[in-house]
Amino acid sequence: MRDMPDSLARQRPQAEQMMNDIFRRVGDLPPLPAVAAKVLEILKDPDADLTALVSIIEKDQALTAKILRVSNSAYYGLVRRISTVKDAVVTLGFNNMRNQVLALSAYSLMQGPASGYALEAGSLWDHSLCTGLCAEHLADTLGYKSIKDEVFIGGLLHDIGKTILSYYVSARFSNILERVDQLGQTFVEAERAELGFDHAEVGARVALRWNLPESLVSMIGDHHKPDLKSVNAARVCLVHVADAIASMLGVGIGVDALEKRLREEAAQLIGLTDHAVQDAMAYMSDLGDLREYIGTH
Ligand SMILES: [Fe+2]
Ligand SMILES: [Fe+2]
Repeated sequence: MRDMPDSLARQRPQAEQMMNDIFRRVGDLPPLPAVAAKVLEILKDPDADLTALVSIIEKDQALTAKILRVSNSAYYGLVRRISTVKDAVVTLGFNNMRNQVLALSAYSLMQGPASGYALEAGSLWDHSLCTGLCAEHLADTLGYKSIKDEVFIGGLLHDIGKTILSYYVSARFSNILERVDQLGQTFVEAERAELGFDHAEVGARVALRWNLPESLVSMIGDHHKPDLKSVNAARVCLVHVADAIASMLGVGIGVDALEKRLREEAAQLIGLTDHAVQDAMAYMSDLGDLREYIGTH
């Protein structure tokens, strides 16, 4: 041990201690999974029944109020007013409702300033929503319609690890920045060198702890480095590409923009074309104020 360079000898136990410390305190985080996990559970059942979904949502008054506000927002362009959760589920459908519940839950986690990432309040949220919508659109246009709802959620949550790290390691951030600036490391490399782990790894571990579905754990954990052989490869690659496009659009990129590198092989796996990228970018700019979508403005 004595012969090892100081930094190496110290780093592993420190990293483990920091990780353990973070996970001991994850319970302090706002409850993403409480309602969201139940909704996911119900919708996994092919005979999912409307009453069960409605009653879970209705138990949370704040969520009910938000759902009604969003359902009546300009995004859906409905003529008739929606006044009950049941009405909202029937009119907008199960999938829309699931996306809303997850998006609103994720929003409550991400709206705070992720100070460690030099992102202003709400900016990580904008980036996440943009990535989710872009992944959904890519799935739609590249022949992955059956998984478009899943990749929307994956895009929405892919950087959840940043929220976690911004709670716990913001003090270490200047060192990470220095590595990016002076050593030319990517953000993920700098996180790993400084902390012994990165935001994708933290996000995946939290998602596991929250009992989120395995495909979601992969989309969160592998979004910077898709494993092309994984059963979830297409999902992960869609999120990876959407993340890069969202960053190209300058939505909530902060200093993290420096790490953006689109992996050629991920683009190939989903059959990405120049036209699809241009189309996705046009779609994103047509959406205008993204926050209108989820009523969080
Ligand atoms: Fe990321
Ligand atoms: Fe991202």
